[in-house]
Amino acid sequence: MDSDKLRSVASAIVSNGKGVLAADESSPTIKKRFDSIQVESTEPARRRYRELLFTTDGIERYIGGVILFDETIRQSTPDGVPFARLLAERGIVPGIKVDRGAKALAQFPGEKVTEGLDGLRERLVEYRELGAGFAKWRAVIDIDGHDVPTPFGIRANAHALARYAALCQEEGLVPIVEPEVLMDGAHGIERCEEVTSRVLEAVFAELDLHCVLFEGMLLKPNMVIAGKKCARQNSPIEVAEATIRCLNRYVPAAVPGIVFLSGGQSAEEATANLNAMNLMGRHPWEVSFSYGRALQAPVLAAWKGLEDNVAAAQRALCKRSRLNGLAREGKYSREMEAGE
Ligand code: 13P
Repeated sequence: MDSDKLRSVASAIVSNGKGVLAADESSPTIKKRFDSIQVESTEPARRRYRELLFTTDGIERYIGGVILFDETIRQSTPDGVPFARLLAERGIVPGIKVDRGAKALAQFPGEKVTEGLDGLRERLVEYRELGAGFAKWRAVIDIDGHDVPTPFGIRANAHALARYAALCQEEGLVPIVEPEVLMDGAHGIERCEEVTSRVLEAVFAELDLHCVLFEGMLLKPNMVIAGKKCARQNSPIEVAEATIRCLNRYVPAAVPGIVFLSGGQSAEEATANLNAMNLMGRHPWEVSFSYGRALQAPVLAAWKGLEDNVAAAQRALCKRSRLNGLAREGKYSREMEAGE
């Protein structure tokens, strides 16, 4: 295992106030996103959309890594430059989603476990040859009353995440470890903190047992936040305090960066919450972002599948990247949302 390389790539992705653009929507997920703007999800349309994202001028100041999907890492610009090379030449580390989705966990109704370990070593070798510097695996934990998740559901997902992370490091790729506690449901912030605590505790115990180098990985957790259907929604300060308290308890200081998912928060909320965490002062790890929807929703809305809208869509990506860059330093305010 090349520990020095893993450490330096993991740190580079979150250095100088940077974060990650998650553009690794699977085919069914990108279809859902395109449906929302009435664009048919064809291979050329997906290629054009991702090209629009990756060629946006100036994002390299704020974006240190981009997560790609299997189809995307094999696509190129019209001049034949593979997307992975295009990104690397801009100083952005290309990464790859390697899990094969969350499937029902046998014998545990209402719980899921992420699949994709079979053949993973060989796939990692191929992705490394295609230019990937890091990988991502997402585990999904739902909250349903007091019975879901079960301790076993959490353990099964933590175990799969650790098997994945160990394989990545063996093959020289930085693992982004993503245990996502979903914000669907009506639970309050306290229940989210309780479940996120159990999940992070289990994930780091398994990572340790699997000899994963904490310095050579990134953690992609949910924020500690009330469910979408909960009547009481919390302020950015409340979300920041609960999230940082939970991470301080369960995430080793050796991990170089926390890159939050947005999970269904609006673009503005995700930026305001990140800002509030960085306003609290210095933390043991870089506190950053790896947003999908919170970076791309305004881009899709501006683009609508039309060439005439490409410049406006790229301005929307620049704006969200810049505002999240400011949130990395605790320098964002809602007034900055006005204008471009
Ligand atoms: P969201 O920010 O839209 O939650 O996506 C992040 C991601 O990569 C989910 O796996």
